[in-house]
Amino acid sequence: MRITWLGHAGFEIEDRRNVVIDPFIKGNPLAPDIELEPDIMAVTHGHADHLGDAVEIAQETGATLVAIHEIANYAAGKGVEAEGMNMGGTIEVNDVQFTMTQAWHSSGIDAAEFGFSGGDPAGYVIEDRARVYHAGDTALFSDMRLIGDLYRPEVMLVPIGDRFTMGPREAALAVSWVRPEIAIPMHYDTFEAVEQDPDEFAELVEGLCDTEVVVLEPGETLEL
Ligand code: NI
Ligand code: MN
Repeated sequence: MRITWLGHAGFEIEDRRNVVIDPFIKGNPLAPDIELEPDIMAVTHGHADHLGDAVEIAQETGATLVAIHEIANYAAGKGVEAEGMNMGGTIEVNDVQFTMTQAWHSSGIDAAEFGFSGGDPAGYVIEDRARVYHAGDTALFSDMRLIGDLYRPEVMLVPIGDRFTMGPREAALAVSWVRPEIAIPMHYDTFEAVEQDPDEFAELVEGLCDTEVVVLEPGETLEL
């Protein structure tokens, strides 16, 4: 499995299939110059820094879009092949399993007219051959322990930027509850409002559990 950080909350996971999560490319100062050719895309919520370029990429590549019911309907209305789902459910798309988890956040679709609801924000446990938990934009919540117990993700992608999501101290506690082998910080340094030191996060994790923190540069790939 190869995990490439696209900056912000965007990742490309290459295993048997190519899965892209939250492709926010246009307007993302950290976005690397990488050609995305996903089989499947998953979007955590409607905000522009997550739904991002997903609809356009799906239109161009024919990739299937996985999202909560409301966003799936929105994308389907734009000609995208979309698989809608909701919290607690698991679906299999092209041999990859997507389990939708809760996230404490909000989810208006910025791209639509004012008042268009993107349903609730979410995270995912994505299982191809290995299991990756993308927490989405979220506050800390103690049911993250259940996500660790139930799905046993090997890798956790965790927001540390603060202000709109958890900061380093909440994110470190989240990692200690989920207990993945590897945690990769995300949703920081994209803009001034989310500037953060990932090494501070790594030190906090080290004080709490055995999880290894891997800090990626935008465009860098972790091979597992
Ligand atoms: Ni958001
Ligand atoms: Mn965000």
